[in-house]
Amino acid sequence: MVYLISLAIALLAGKGFGMSDKCYTLSMEGGGSHGAYEAGVLWSFATYIPAEERAWDIITGISAGSLNARVCAQFDYGDEINMAENAINAWLSAKTMASIAVEWPQGLYYSTFFEPSLYDSSPMLTFLQQYSGTVINRNITVGVTDYESGEFMEYNQDIGTDLLTVAAKSSASIPFVFTPTLLNGHWYGDGGVLINLNTNEAISFCRSLGYSDKNIVVDMIRDFDGQDRPKPQIVNNTKEAMDRANVISDFYSKLWFLYDFSHSFPYVDIRYIAIPTKPLPPWDGTFPLDFKPDDMQWEVELGKSDGKSFVENGIKGRHAMKAKKLDEIPATHYF
Ligand SMILES: *[C@@H]1O[C@H](CO)[C@@H](O)[C@H](O)[C@H]1NC(C)=O
Ligand SMILES: *[C@@H]1O[C@H](CO)[C@@H](O)[C@H](O)[C@H]1NC(C)=O
Repeated sequence: MVYLISLAIALLAGKGFGMSDKCYTLSMEGGGSHGAYEAGVLWSFATYIPAEERAWDIITGISAGSLNARVCAQFDYGDEINMAENAINAWLSAKTMASIAVEWPQGLYYSTFFEPSLYDSSPMLTFLQQYSGTVINRNITVGVTDYESGEFMEYNQDIGTDLLTVAAKSSASIPFVFTPTLLNGHWYGDGGVLINLNTNEAISFCRSLGYSDKNIVVDMIRDFDGQDRPKPQIVNNTKEAMDRANVISDFYSKLWFLYDFSHSFPYVDIRYIAIPTKPLPPWDGTFPLDFKPDDMQWEVELGKSDGKSFVENGIKGRHAMKAKKLDEIPATHYF
């Protein structure tokens, strides 16, 4: 009887975990302080996608995406708007990089040779703890790179609330800049060293619950500027060949996992792939770690407006990859 009552309450309260005929997933990629853009998109996804279709069963993340996933894990299914607001508050509260990393006492030059990283990123853990809450109410998984074995690893709530925060920090330990993170006896660095978007882990999770691929709905939030596929170009000299190689390599290294994902899981319902519609700061082109309040606010607002227009205009799935048909997407076959 008690069981039936709680079941009825659960049903009345709307969708709980695993109670739908579809498995909804969300994945957020790495990108330093562009995590603020992701949080903005997340807010609009939570606000404009119907409630029963955005109670994501799992959130996967790499680096900045892992920090977002971690601060989301405390929110129950159905509570996505508060979840997104918490993520936005976290990014806006950072103000400067010092919230997550500080110079080692002997300065940057010394650190290059005698410390494990340019900056001491231990403040990142305290920062993350402030926004992560004390409970885990939603499945997340974060990807890290094991520096010793060279392998990719995933961590989820099975390691416990406190260590999940350490795992998210590991996932965001950008090589060279931030300190590798010790967890379970392993030194981990940023998951993006290997792959910058781990949507494949979301598929494994839904499959393990018994969902067939056609019932798995995938949303992705990317945060690197969507650059165009390189146009045909004749190369005349060394300098041009070098520039050309950089353009090609940049394009593919930021997209191979999307291509492979499409080919590896052709029956999965790729719903939204959010990509910034404008270049994101810093405008001098350096790696996004400045955390300037104006820039963070700008990224959040662009994320909100992009997210809203993706949902309202139905810019979906493969269209966002600038390729309408599967056979127009190059195959790289990493998975
Ligand atoms: C996460 O998923 C598992 C199924 O693999 C489920 O048993 C568990 O309750 C979920 N955890 C949360 C916090 O929803
Ligand atoms: C190489 O030369 C051709 C012919 O002058 C020109 O059209 C092309 O743009 C040049 N390639 C590059 C990369 O500038």
